[in-house]
Amino acid sequence: MRDAGCGQVEASWSGREVRVIGWVHRRRDLGGLFFVDLRDRTGLLQLSFGPEWSDAAGLELVTELNPEDVVQATGVVAPRPEPNPDMLTGEIEIRVSSLRRVSVSDPLPILVYQPPDEELPSEELRLKHRILDLRRPEMQRNLRLRHVATNAVRASLTEQGFVEIETPLLTRQTPEGARDYLVPSRVHQGRFFALPQSPQLYKQLLMCGGFDRYFQIAKCLRDEDLRADRQPEFTQIDVEMAFVEQDDVFRAAEKMFARVWRDGLERELPVPFRRLPHAEAMERYGTDKPDLRIPWEIRDFTDALTGIGFGIFDGAARAGGRVRGLVLPGGAALSRSRIAHYDRLAQEAGAKGALWLKRTADGWSGPPAKVVGEEVARALEAEFGVGEGDLVFLVAGVDAESSPALDRLRRGAARELGAVDESGEEWLWITEFPLYERDPDTGLPVPAQHAFTMPADPDPERLREDPLSVNAIAYDIVYNGIELASGSIRCHLPEVQRVILEATGLTPEEVEARFGFLLEAFRYGVPPHGGFAVGMDRLVAEMAGCASIRDVIAFPKTAAARGLLERSPSSVTPAELEELGISVTGETVTGA
Ligand code: AMO
Repeated sequence: MRDAGCGQVEASWSGREVRVIGWVHRRRDLGGLFFVDLRDRTGLLQLSFGPEWSDAAGLELVTELNPEDVVQATGVVAPRPEPNPDMLTGEIEIRVSSLRRVSVSDPLPILVYQPPDEELPSEELRLKHRILDLRRPEMQRNLRLRHVATNAVRASLTEQGFVEIETPLLTRQTPEGARDYLVPSRVHQGRFFALPQSPQLYKQLLMCGGFDRYFQIAKCLRDEDLRADRQPEFTQIDVEMAFVEQDDVFRAAEKMFARVWRDGLERELPVPFRRLPHAEAMERYGTDKPDLRIPWEIRDFTDALTGIGFGIFDGAARAGGRVRGLVLPGGAALSRSRIAHYDRLAQEAGAKGALWLKRTADGWSGPPAKVVGEEVARALEAEFGVGEGDLVFLVAGVDAESSPALDRLRRGAARELGAVDESGEEWLWITEFPLYERDPDTGLPVPAQHAFTMPADPDPERLREDPLSVNAIAYDIVYNGIELASGSIRCHLPEVQRVILEATGLTPEEVEARFGFLLEAFRYGVPPHGGFAVGMDRLVAEMAGCASIRDVIAFPKTAAARGLLERSPSSVTPAELEELGISVTGETVTGA
């Protein structure tokens, strides 16, 4: 139907007749002359219509064209009187001799051609009319970039000796900390399959099955609260290796990322990535996913600011807490209302609040300023580098409260004060995670990553008595403050694995019922193994510079976990329910 794609017609073809087909992107009428920007996946091409070179039918039809009609045009390639340097084919146009309308478009619910400076329609409309949204050049670019990244992953891992193997979607519940999506069995009424939250256990079974390097571009399904970087259905680059230690896994991952960056972004990646133990990340940045493009670090002001007569600081120290803070160079420019805003942020994050100290030409101000004598001032200047024009945020309390608060302050204020090096890229392995953390609701230890991780100290006694003190051989990859990947060396010792699961509150019988198949597999010569999984959607969103992973997924769900285009989830007929042996007791219908 065409001699070339719209973006493929070249200036050197001047004088040649070509046939092209595509969507009417935009039409302009200039007093008897008509121009149409024709669009397909390869780009835009200007069609021009005039009485000297277009037939009468074409001249009439062009006045009737709607945006997004599909038309086929035949004409001669000609240089443009006024070239458009912003367009791939901006030096030429097609002087159309004949025009055929192949498909008619109804009036558009959302525009594909986005006039400059016009805001995008709401995301709800974009998702409802996703096929039109997907035609926008930005979405075309995002999904093509995703394809390039996927290919690079396959190429790198294949070169490194990995084999791609599919694992089941209809499976039994595997814990990654979210709720499962359940699928009723018709044949075995009252029984349910669970859709996998990740292929975690299968990939470990594959190691037991003798495949020592596995990967899969795997769909994962988790019924959890959604955010901009979470979808109920998302994709992992899932990797597992046998006969390896942590360093082997890191090298394989870094090689893969370097290939993705080279193929997708034409950039060299500085490998190896730097490493930061979890405890150090929490101390210096208050989070396990620090954005290292921000140069500020959390400091401990306890010694400098207690015992000088400020009750809040002394009280926090007496209760086993500390005074930790951030020095904001140039932060004295923040207004009282902005400071109050950060105080609220700190409270929302669980701290009592954020106190502040400003150093200006007039001296010190802020609630604790009255106790800042000469000696304290000297310490603040010499030890903490506080200078004129700076501001210090101080959070007093236990680390569990101050860390999240200081993390929020650090990220928020750095953005406001322009302290984020936006042109930089910071890759980081966070290592030595704790094996467990305390569930704030039940008080029970819950696995910090998941329950299949090798403890740094695999002593069953210690795991039973003091599980919260044990570290794990577990790691994350953090890119510019975003958790892109997570993994660990796995616990291949059946008895230790049993204890790890029991420490989460499962009885030995429950462990056997739910994970017996894994423990059984470990009884026939299990190879030591480990791996990782990358959030593919997050990875591509970062590569494409998108704020939401929905912009790199063709048909994503809304924040309320619905598909607006196909209108899912939907109700089913009573007959279908009966066949499954299911009765629905309640129905919540929100929205259309
Ligand atoms: P984890 O649960 O940390 O680890 O997931 C790995 C990576 O997947 C991405 N991710 C998500 N992306 C979009 N939407 C979601 N709802 C979502 N949840 C997670 C994140 C995350 O870093 N089996 C282990 C990995 C392993 O140990 O090998 C696992 O699934 O980028």
